[in-house]
Amino acid sequence: MAYNLLKGKTGIIFGALDEKSIAWNIATKCYEEGARFTLSNTSSAIRFGQLEELARKCSAEIIPADATSEEDLTKVFERSVEIFDGKVDFVLHSIGMSLNVRKKRVYNDLDYNYFKKTLDISAMSFHKMLQVANKLDAINDWGSVVALSYIAAQRTLYAYNDMADAKALLESIARSFGYIYGRERKIRINTISQSPTLTTAGSGVKVMGGLMDFTDRMSPLGNASAEECANYCITLFSDLTRKVTMQNLFHDGGFSGMGMSLKAMTMYNKAIDSDCD
Ligand SMILES: NC(=O)c1ccc[n+]([C@@H]2O[C@H](COP(=O)([O-])OP(=O)(O)OC[C@H]3O[C@@H](n4cnc5c(N)ncnc54)[C@H](O)[C@@H]3O)[C@@H](O)[C@H]2O)c1
Repeated sequence: MAYNLLKGKTGIIFGALDEKSIAWNIATKCYEEGARFTLSNTSSAIRFGQLEELARKCSAEIIPADATSEEDLTKVFERSVEIFDGKVDFVLHSIGMSLNVRKKRVYNDLDYNYFKKTLDISAMSFHKMLQVANKLDAINDWGSVVALSYIAAQRTLYAYNDMADAKALLESIARSFGYIYGRERKIRINTISQSPTLTTAGSGVKVMGGLMDFTDRMSPLGNASAEECANYCITLFSDLTRKVTMQNLFHDGGFSGMGMSLKAMTMYNKAIDSDCD
Protein backbone atom coordinates (compact mmCIF):
# COMPACT_ATOMS: atom_id res chain seq x y z
CA MET A 1 0.00 0.00 0.00
CA ALA A 2 1.37 3.42 -0.94
CA TYR A 3 0.83 6.59 1.14
CA ASN A 4 2.26 9.23 -1.21
CA LEU A 5 4.80 9.96 1.52
CA LEU A 6 7.45 11.18 -0.93
CA LYS A 7 5.25 12.95 -3.46
CA GLY A 8 7.21 15.80 -5.05
CA LYS A 9 10.50 14.77 -3.47
CA THR A 10 13.71 14.07 -5.35
CA GLY A 11 16.73 12.08 -4.32
CA ILE A 12 19.85 10.05 -5.10
CA ILE A 13 20.12 6.33 -4.36
CA PHE A 14 23.59 4.79 -4.20
CA GLY A 15 24.18 1.02 -4.05
CA ALA A 16 21.42 -0.90 -5.86
CA LEU A 17 23.01 -3.90 -7.59
CA ASP A 18 20.25 -6.47 -8.05
CA GLU A 19 16.76 -7.13 -6.73
CA LYS A 20 18.12 -8.52 -3.44
CA SER A 21 19.96 -5.26 -2.68
CA ILE A 22 18.58 -3.21 0.19
CA ALA A 23 18.96 -0.12 -2.04
CA TRP A 24 16.90 -1.80 -4.78
CA ASN A 25 14.05 -2.34 -2.32
CA ILE A 26 14.35 1.24 -1.08
CA ALA A 27 14.33 2.60 -4.64
CA THR A 28 11.21 0.59 -5.46
CA LYS A 29 9.40 1.96 -2.37
CA CYS A 30 10.56 5.52 -3.04
CA TYR A 31 9.10 5.23 -6.54
CA GLU A 32 5.81 3.83 -5.22
CA GLU A 33 5.66 6.71 -2.73
CA GLY A 34 5.92 9.30 -5.52
CA ALA A 35 9.60 10.25 -5.44
CA ARG A 36 11.85 10.88 -8.43
CA PHE A 37 15.50 9.98 -8.07
CA THR A 38 18.75 9.14 -9.79
CA LEU A 39 20.59 5.85 -9.29
CA SER A 40 24.33 5.44 -8.88
CA ASN A 41 26.77 2.55 -8.70
CA THR A 42 30.21 1.67 -10.04
CA SER A 43 30.61 1.09 -13.79
CA SER A 44 31.36 -2.60 -13.19
CA ALA A 45 28.30 -3.03 -10.95
CA ILE A 46 26.17 -1.43 -13.69
CA ARG A 47 27.69 -3.81 -16.25
CA PHE A 48 27.31 -6.99 -14.19
CA GLY A 49 24.26 -6.17 -12.06
CA GLN A 50 20.65 -5.38 -12.99
CA LEU A 51 20.57 -1.64 -12.36
CA GLU A 52 19.32 -0.82 -15.85
CA GLU A 53 16.18 -2.88 -15.21
CA LEU A 54 15.51 -0.90 -12.02
CA ALA A 55 16.18 2.38 -13.81
CA ARG A 56 13.61 1.50 -16.48
CA LYS A 57 10.99 0.53 -13.88
CA CYS A 58 11.51 3.74 -11.89
CA SER A 59 12.12 6.08 -14.86
CA ALA A 60 15.45 6.97 -13.25
CA GLU A 61 18.73 8.02 -14.83
CA ILE A 62 21.85 6.07 -13.87
CA ILE A 63 24.95 8.10 -13.04
CA PRO A 64 28.04 5.88 -12.73
CA ALA A 65 30.38 6.66 -9.82
CA ASP A 66 33.01 5.06 -7.69
CA ALA A 67 31.93 6.38 -4.29
CA THR A 68 35.55 6.71 -3.21
CA SER A 69 36.10 9.37 -5.90
CA GLU A 70 35.17 12.94 -5.00
CA GLU A 71 35.24 13.79 -8.70
CA ASP A 72 32.69 11.06 -9.49
CA LEU A 73 30.51 12.05 -6.54
CA THR A 74 30.57 15.68 -7.68
CA LYS A 75 29.27 14.56 -11.08
CA VAL A 76 26.44 12.58 -9.44
CA PHE A 77 25.25 15.55 -7.38
CA GLU A 78 25.69 18.07 -10.21
CA ARG A 79 23.85 15.90 -12.74
CA SER A 80 21.04 15.12 -10.28
CA VAL A 81 20.50 18.81 -9.53
CA GLU A 82 20.44 19.44 -13.29
CA ILE A 83 17.89 16.66 -13.94
CA PHE A 84 15.55 17.81 -11.17
CA ASP A 85 16.18 21.49 -11.84
CA GLY A 86 16.90 21.99 -8.16
CA LYS A 87 18.41 20.48 -5.03
CA VAL A 88 17.55 16.95 -3.91
CA ASP A 89 15.55 16.06 -0.80
CA PHE A 90 17.09 12.73 0.13
CA VAL A 91 20.24 10.67 -0.32
CA LEU A 92 20.77 6.96 0.39
CA HIS A 93 24.25 5.50 1.03
CA SER A 94 23.90 1.72 0.72
CA ILE A 95 27.50 0.80 -0.04
CA GLY A 96 29.78 -1.74 1.55
CA MET A 97 32.68 -3.97 0.54
CA SER A 98 35.61 -5.67 2.25
CA LEU A 99 38.35 -7.42 0.33
CA ASN A 100 39.51 -8.97 3.60
CA VAL A 101 36.09 -10.61 3.94
CA ARG A 102 36.08 -11.63 0.27
CA LYS A 103 39.58 -13.08 0.40
CA LYS A 104 38.92 -14.76 3.77
CA ARG A 105 41.59 -12.83 5.69
CA VAL A 106 40.75 -13.08 9.39
CA TYR A 107 40.75 -10.10 11.77
CA ASN A 108 44.13 -10.93 13.34
CA ASP A 109 45.73 -11.37 9.91
CA LEU A 110 44.35 -8.44 7.92
CA ASP A 111 45.85 -7.17 4.71
CA TYR A 112 46.23 -3.46 5.44
CA ASN A 113 45.80 -2.35 1.85
CA TYR A 114 42.49 -4.20 1.83
CA PHE A 115 41.64 -2.69 5.22
CA LYS A 116 42.18 0.83 3.85
CA LYS A 117 39.90 -0.03 0.93
CA THR A 118 37.23 -1.35 3.29
CA LEU A 119 37.25 1.91 5.22
CA ASP A 120 37.39 4.03 2.07
CA ILE A 121 34.53 2.25 0.27
CA SER A 122 32.28 1.45 3.22
CA ALA A 123 32.70 4.51 5.44
CA MET A 124 34.85 7.34 4.11
CA SER A 125 32.73 7.40 0.95
CA PHE A 126 29.89 8.61 3.21
CA HIS A 127 32.03 11.51 4.43
CA LYS A 128 33.02 12.33 0.84
CA MET A 129 29.38 12.23 -0.27
CA LEU A 130 28.34 14.61 2.52
CA GLN A 131 31.30 16.94 1.99
CA VAL A 132 30.71 17.13 -1.77
CA ALA A 133 26.96 17.74 -1.31
CA ASN A 134 27.66 20.38 1.33
CA LYS A 135 30.11 22.27 -0.90
CA LEU A 136 27.70 22.15 -3.84
CA ASP A 137 24.75 23.03 -1.59
CA ALA A 138 22.91 20.17 -3.29
CA ILE A 139 20.41 19.10 -0.59
CA ASN A 140 17.23 21.03 0.26
CA ASP A 141 16.53 22.35 3.78
CA TRP A 142 14.71 19.68 5.82
CA GLY A 143 16.22 17.01 3.57
CA SER A 144 17.24 13.60 4.83
CA VAL A 145 20.33 11.43 4.39
CA VAL A 146 20.42 7.74 5.40
CA ALA A 147 23.27 5.20 5.41
CA LEU A 148 22.97 1.47 6.07
CA SER A 149 24.82 0.08 9.10
CA TYR A 150 25.08 -3.09 11.17
CA ILE A 151 25.21 -3.88 14.90
CA ALA A 152 28.82 -5.07 14.56
CA ALA A 153 29.63 -1.35 15.06
CA GLN A 154 28.72 -1.81 18.76
CA ARG A 155 29.11 -5.54 19.42
CA THR A 156 31.59 -8.13 18.25
CA LEU A 157 30.07 -10.65 15.87
CA TYR A 158 32.18 -13.56 14.68
CA ALA A 159 33.41 -13.21 11.08
CA TYR A 160 32.17 -9.66 10.41
CA ASN A 161 35.84 -8.73 10.36
CA ASP A 162 37.03 -5.23 9.34
CA MET A 163 33.50 -4.27 8.25
CA ALA A 164 32.79 -3.79 11.98
CA ASP A 165 35.37 -0.99 12.09
CA ALA A 166 33.95 0.51 8.90
CA LYS A 167 30.44 0.58 10.39
CA ALA A 168 31.68 2.22 13.60
CA LEU A 169 33.29 4.95 11.48
CA LEU A 170 30.17 5.28 9.30
CA GLU A 171 27.95 5.85 12.35
CA SER A 172 30.39 8.37 13.77
CA ILE A 173 30.42 10.30 10.48
CA ALA A 174 26.59 10.42 10.59
CA ARG A 175 26.77 12.09 14.02
CA SER A 176 29.61 14.49 13.25
CA PHE A 177 28.16 15.65 9.92
CA GLY A 178 24.63 15.46 11.34
CA TYR A 179 25.54 18.28 13.70
CA ILE A 180 26.93 20.48 10.92
CA TYR A 181 24.11 19.76 8.46
CA GLY A 182 21.45 20.19 11.15
CA ARG A 183 22.90 23.46 12.44
CA GLU A 184 23.47 25.02 9.03
CA ARG A 185 20.80 23.53 6.79
CA LYS A 186 18.15 21.73 8.88
CA ILE A 187 19.11 18.50 7.13
CA ARG A 188 19.04 15.25 9.09
CA ILE A 189 21.54 12.41 8.87
CA ASN A 190 20.90 8.96 10.31
CA THR A 191 22.05 5.38 9.96
CA ILE A 192 19.74 2.36 9.90
CA SER A 193 21.25 -0.69 11.59
CA GLN A 194 19.63 -3.51 9.67
CA SER A 195 19.22 -7.25 10.47
CA PRO A 196 21.47 -9.62 8.52
CA THR A 197 19.91 -9.85 5.05
CA LEU A 198 20.64 -12.22 2.17
CA THR A 199 22.13 -9.92 -0.45
CA THR A 200 25.34 -10.07 -2.50
CA ALA A 201 27.28 -8.15 0.19
CA GLY A 202 25.55 -10.08 3.01
CA SER A 203 26.37 -13.46 1.50
CA GLY A 204 30.07 -12.58 1.57
CA VAL A 205 30.11 -12.91 5.38
CA LYS A 206 31.29 -16.36 6.46
CA VAL A 207 28.61 -18.32 8.40
CA MET A 208 25.82 -16.02 7.11
CA GLY A 209 23.24 -18.86 7.29
CA GLY A 210 24.01 -19.60 10.95
CA LEU A 211 24.12 -15.90 11.82
CA MET A 212 20.72 -15.25 10.25
CA ASP A 213 19.20 -18.23 12.05
CA PHE A 214 20.67 -17.05 15.37
CA THR A 215 19.47 -13.44 15.02
CA ASP A 216 16.04 -14.64 13.90
CA ARG A 217 15.70 -16.85 17.02
CA MET A 218 16.97 -14.02 19.24
CA SER A 219 14.71 -11.29 17.85
CA PRO A 220 11.17 -11.18 19.29
CA LEU A 221 9.88 -9.91 15.93
CA GLY A 222 12.26 -12.00 13.82
CA ASN A 223 14.80 -10.70 11.31
CA ALA A 224 13.81 -7.65 9.28
CA SER A 225 13.78 -8.20 5.50
CA ALA A 226 15.15 -5.83 2.84
CA GLU A 227 11.58 -4.82 1.98
CA GLU A 228 10.81 -4.01 5.62
CA CYS A 229 14.00 -1.97 5.75
CA ALA A 230 12.75 -0.04 2.72
CA ASN A 231 9.45 0.68 4.51
CA TYR A 232 11.36 2.09 7.46
CA CYS A 233 13.68 4.10 5.24
CA ILE A 234 10.89 5.92 3.41
CA THR A 235 9.58 7.21 6.74
CA LEU A 236 13.03 8.71 7.33
CA PHE A 237 12.96 10.37 3.90
CA SER A 238 9.45 11.68 4.54
CA ASP A 239 8.42 14.84 6.40
CA LEU A 240 7.10 12.72 9.30
CA THR A 241 10.57 12.39 10.86
CA ARG A 242 11.92 15.94 10.57
CA LYS A 243 13.41 16.10 14.04
CA VAL A 244 15.18 12.73 13.98
CA THR A 245 18.88 13.22 13.36
CA MET A 246 22.35 11.94 14.32
CA GLN A 247 20.84 8.60 15.32
CA ASN A 248 21.78 5.02 14.68
CA LEU A 249 18.33 3.45 14.36
CA PHE A 250 18.09 -0.28 14.92
CA HIS A 251 15.82 -2.05 12.45
CA ASP A 252 16.37 -5.59 13.63
CA GLY A 253 13.17 -7.06 15.10
CA GLY A 254 14.42 -6.28 18.62
CA PHE A 255 17.74 -8.18 18.38
CA SER A 256 19.76 -5.25 19.77
CA GLY A 257 17.73 -5.25 22.99
CA MET A 258 18.09 -8.97 23.68
CA GLY A 259 20.54 -11.03 25.73
CA MET A 260 19.05 -14.51 25.41
CA SER A 261 15.73 -15.76 24.08
CA LEU A 262 13.80 -18.97 24.70
CA LYS A 263 14.21 -19.99 21.04
CA ALA A 264 17.98 -19.46 21.08
CA MET A 265 18.32 -21.16 24.48
CA THR A 266 16.37 -24.17 23.23
CA MET A 267 18.74 -24.49 20.27
CA TYR A 268 21.80 -24.01 22.48
CA ASN A 269 20.60 -26.69 24.92
CA LYS A 270 20.09 -29.10 22.02
CA ALA A 271 23.69 -28.49 20.98
CA ILE A 272 24.92 -29.15 24.54
CA ASP A 273 22.85 -32.35 24.67
CA SER A 274 24.42 -33.56 21.43
CA ASP A 275 27.83 -32.59 22.86
CA CYS A 276 28.82 -30.12 20.13
CA ASP A 277 31.68 -27.65 20.72
N1 LIG B 1 23.06 -7.65 3.90
C1 LIG B 1 23.19 -7.49 5.20
O1 LIG B 1 23.16 -8.45 5.98
C2 LIG B 1 23.34 -6.10 5.75
C3 LIG B 1 23.01 -5.85 7.09
C4 LIG B 1 23.20 -4.57 7.60
C5 LIG B 1 23.70 -3.56 6.78
N2 LIG B 1 24.01 -3.85 5.47
C6 LIG B 1 24.56 -2.77 4.65
O2 LIG B 1 23.65 -2.45 3.63
C7 LIG B 1 24.37 -1.81 2.58
C8 LIG B 1 23.94 -2.40 1.24
O3 LIG B 1 24.36 -3.75 1.14
P1 LIG B 1 23.42 -4.92 0.60
O4 LIG B 1 23.35 -5.92 1.69
O5 LIG B 1 22.20 -4.38 -0.01
O6 LIG B 1 24.36 -5.60 -0.51
P2 LIG B 1 24.62 -5.26 -2.07
O7 LIG B 1 25.80 -6.10 -2.43
O8 LIG B 1 23.39 -5.44 -2.84
O9 LIG B 1 25.02 -3.71 -2.05
C9 LIG B 1 26.34 -3.24 -1.83
C10 LIG B 1 26.57 -2.18 -2.89
O10 LIG B 1 27.81 -1.48 -2.69
C11 LIG B 1 28.25 -1.12 -4.00
N3 LIG B 1 29.65 -0.71 -4.01
C12 LIG B 1 30.74 -1.45 -3.67
N4 LIG B 1 31.86 -0.72 -3.86
C13 LIG B 1 31.46 0.51 -4.32
C14 LIG B 1 32.14 1.69 -4.69
N5 LIG B 1 33.47 1.78 -4.64
N6 LIG B 1 31.42 2.75 -5.11
C15 LIG B 1 30.06 2.69 -5.19
N7 LIG B 1 29.35 1.60 -4.83
C16 LIG B 1 30.05 0.51 -4.41
C17 LIG B 1 28.04 -2.43 -4.78
O11 LIG B 1 28.15 -2.27 -6.19
C18 LIG B 1 26.64 -2.80 -4.32
O12 LIG B 1 25.65 -2.21 -5.12
C19 LIG B 1 25.86 -1.97 2.89
O13 LIG B 1 26.33 -0.81 3.52
C20 LIG B 1 25.84 -3.12 3.88
O14 LIG B 1 26.97 -3.16 4.71
C21 LIG B 1 23.82 -5.09 4.94
